[in-house]
Amino acid sequence: LSSYASIIGHRSMVFDDVRNTAYGLALDEVIRPDSVVLDLGSGLGIHGLMAAARGARRVYLVDPSPVNAVAAKVAAANAFANNVICIQERIENADLPEKVDVIVSVFTGNFLLEEDLLPSLFFARDRYLKADGKLIPGAAEMRVAPVTAESYFQKHISSWSQPSQAVDFSMIRKFAANATYYDGQLNREAEFLAEAKTLAALDFATAQQATCSNEIGFMAERDGICHGFLGWFRMQLGTTWLSTSPLKPAMHWSQVFLPVDPPLALQAGDQVSLKLTRPQFGEWSWIYEHNGLRQIRSTFLSHALDMVRLQAHNKAHKATLSEKGEVVKFVTTRMDGLNTVEMLVQSVIQEFGRRFSSAEELTEITRSILSQYGR
Ligand SMILES: C[S@@+](CC[C@H](N)C(=O)[O-])C[C@H]1O[C@@H](n2cnc3c(N)ncnc32)[C@H](O)[C@@H]1O
Repeated sequence: LSSYASIIGHRSMVFDDVRNTAYGLALDEVIRPDSVVLDLGSGLGIHGLMAAARGARRVYLVDPSPVNAVAAKVAAANAFANNVICIQERIENADLPEKVDVIVSVFTGNFLLEEDLLPSLFFARDRYLKADGKLIPGAAEMRVAPVTAESYFQKHISSWSQPSQAVDFSMIRKFAANATYYDGQLNREAEFLAEAKTLAALDFATAQQATCSNEIGFMAERDGICHGFLGWFRMQLGTTWLSTSPLKPAMHWSQVFLPVDPPLALQAGDQVSLKLTRPQFGEWSWIYEHNGLRQIRSTFLSHALDMVRLQAHNKAHKATLSEKGEVVKFVTTRMDGLNTVEMLVQSVIQEFGRRFSSAEELTEITRSILSQYGR
């Protein structure tokens, strides 16, 4: 189950007043008494219910998480049961009976592309938005600045060069230098060495892909050690922009820190370039250049080498089923509407009992297969 299946996990979004107030102003601009609204990825339904409170004729709350059923109760408790329809599905599988005037969503992850939710927004737009319909948000930009962040860098990167309990972990530093770091408060300690710039812009009305592959240059405004780049995004809500910059009021989003290791000693006037690549559902890669020295970093290099994962990228590889894969196959081929859960669990224990730690473990695995692939 994704983290969005946790009801209390939605608290930080439901009570993100800075964000929700900005969404409310954007809703004020577009909601009319005859408006039909899709709250895409509605969670506990905050934005859809705000649209209902502004008089929308009908509101669809679409979210595959079981939290959707709880949102239906919230809608009823707020006397919106008649015009709010909850659909517990991914938008790709939902079957809305009509097109909508407004799609409101929060499919902008940290640094915009994290979580890869935007492709589902583009899908929803193409299938359900009326020709003159409105998107909230309607556009977004990725912003970046080179920063000095000594204590943060010490904690996350250079600390690996010091032994822990006399054990040398210095070889791990290269993994740490290829990771991305999401943080709210700590990143606020970062000081900009140059003015932030827009790395990429997406118009949600027309975009087909949620990717980034752009290069920008910065000129250092002062001497300082560059420990990395800080990234965030801003988005267009109606006629205004809401920014997740560390210089703006905090919201539930985090900024991202892309380390530069070893740090660069910049002098005022120095040029630093940054190329950032992020394919849909892919890894983050950042290439930076200063004084003719070019360095490549990628989250791909931050993971432990996992041969199975690597082989999945090898087009010629002919895979076989793992132990767990065998169980998934065994259970799913018997999910035919005839076998009860009890029958399935017993046959799994009989077939695989000796290869797993306990009957309880197999029961849990079977239940999770049932909830993932069953209905
Ligand atoms: C960032 S949360 C936003 C929740 C809520 N809109 C809010 O702001 O409080 C994104 C939500 O999108 C849902 N989601 C993810 N993929 C989805 C899809 N393909 N279709 C519909 N909802 C999706 C998740 O379950 C999650 O609840």
